[in-house]
Amino acid sequence: MKIYVPRDAAAKALGADEVAEAVAREAEARGMSLQIVRNGSRGMVWLEPLVEVEASGRRLAYGPVQASDVPALLDGTLDSLGAVEDIPFFARQTRLTFARVGLNDPHSLDDYKAHGGLAGLRRVLDMRGEAVIDELKASGLRGRGGAGFPAGIKWDTVRMAHADRKYIVCNADEGDSGTFADRMLMEGDPFCLIEGMVIAGVTVGATKGFVYLRSEYPDAIEVMTEAVELARAAGLLGDAVLGTGPAFDMEIRVGAGAYVCGEETSLLNSLEGKRGVVRAKPPLPALEGLFGKPTVVNNVLTLATVPVIFEKGAEHYASFGLGRSKGTMPIQIAGNVARGGLFETAFGMPLGELVNDVAGGTASGRPVKAVQVGGPLGAYMPTSKFDTPFGYEEFDGQGGLIGHAGVVVFDDSADMAGLARFAMEFCAVESCGKCTPCRIGAVRGVETIDRIAAGDAAAVPLLEDLCETMRDGSLCALGGFTPYPVLSALRGFPEEFGPARDAAE
Ligand code: NAI
Ligand code: SF4
Repeated sequence: MKIYVPRDAAAKALGADEVAEAVAREAEARGMSLQIVRNGSRGMVWLEPLVEVEASGRRLAYGPVQASDVPALLDGTLDSLGAVEDIPFFARQTRLTFARVGLNDPHSLDDYKAHGGLAGLRRVLDMRGEAVIDELKASGLRGRGGAGFPAGIKWDTVRMAHADRKYIVCNADEGDSGTFADRMLMEGDPFCLIEGMVIAGVTVGATKGFVYLRSEYPDAIEVMTEAVELARAAGLLGDAVLGTGPAFDMEIRVGAGAYVCGEETSLLNSLEGKRGVVRAKPPLPALEGLFGKPTVVNNVLTLATVPVIFEKGAEHYASFGLGRSKGTMPIQIAGNVARGGLFETAFGMPLGELVNDVAGGTASGRPVKAVQVGGPLGAYMPTSKFDTPFGYEEFDGQGGLIGHAGVVVFDDSADMAGLARFAMEFCAVESCGKCTPCRIGAVRGVETIDRIAAGDAAAVPLLEDLCETMRDGSLCALGGFTPYPVLSALRGFPEEFGPARDAAE
């Protein structure tokens, strides 16, 4: 008998370690022989710790399980949720990037291979670099960190650059509020990210990769570090990838925790041991990146999607999605929702369906007021925009952005002016200080919103002007995108700005 108890950080926060200990204790006391697998999360956070029991060829789920439920679990008298694949939240997903997360043992390279792992890399090793790039372009894969730049074009830029050294840098500094897909992927399927980085390396001619992982993710750091060691010992990394390929090795580097280090050029500075300050572009990192060498900087999800593209073919991947948003997106549903978690689906699902149907509306049972999509720099989408399909261009057309696909739900008690003020405050705190519109603008933004709240109506156009300056004049997305939450709150909920708001309360 196998018992799966996630060691995902969210499951652990909800008591998974205690459950795993109780299972081991109880099994020993009963003289039962069973194997405990510490898997990743299946992504249904409201059911965590979600335990699965595999016996007689069936894998049944139970959740949320507490340590006190373990005797009943082993007696077979605990109510089961059935197979995970039949739970509606899971059943309606299209899992490509997250196909293995929660299913396999993240601590075993053999188990990764048994679940189809390395098939993509093996194919790539038999292809010419140009053909790999063509296939990546055909898949339509775009950067999952937020900007949505075509991955094939970025890789091609690095591949064509002439240099004695090239690098692959994985941006695992997942800092957006309400996002956790990078973390879940690294904790649940680390070899998938490693395979994606190796494919990137052999394709563009890079011999070294770095994962820049935020210090706030200790479990991901542990799992990734162990996986890199196992991969090296098995010949997946080293002087000849899988025995016949070119050299590629990688390291895990831990950031000290600054939001702006998720911006690629400050990340590179930090990786070089310098202060995490944004660099002006050009030069693009693809031409002059880490230590001045051509560098692919991709988000975790971008790199972890590459293996499935080469395993199943570009056409298969591109058959999902909508318009220029091809494939699937691992959407992270959080905030005030009944069912929060990781929901991977083809691009195109309307926002309202995601929030009301998939996530079951708010946890508080009150009406939804707004949804912030794309992290702290994303716009607040009111319910009047719930028809918007989940896609890069579609959200852009509605004054929003999908960013890293974090969806944070607010009910009707949300204070929109307070949230707008928070956006400016956040920018002021996290600003790297390099450019004036952001460094000074964010501070003035907080003051201006306070003036509006105090009844100074003349400060409204001032705030709009300031937002325009920040949007057009900032060097990076932190200052440039802060106007999204501020202006969407102001324009979507104008009655909440100013003293009328207090009178209404
Ligand atoms: P960007 O649009 O400047 O660049 C996108 C990527 O394409 C970069 O890697 C850039 O170097 C590359 N690129 C652009 N032109 C290229 C060319 N001709 N050849 C090769 N490569 C090229 O966007 P940026 O500033 O890198 O990212 C902004 C995004 O980051 C926002 O959309 C925001 O949603 C997202 N974001 C994500 C966060 C997270 O936690 N994942 C946090 C904060 C922001
Ligand atoms: Fe730094 Fe802000 Fe300018 Fe970005 S916008 S470079 S974070 S000061």
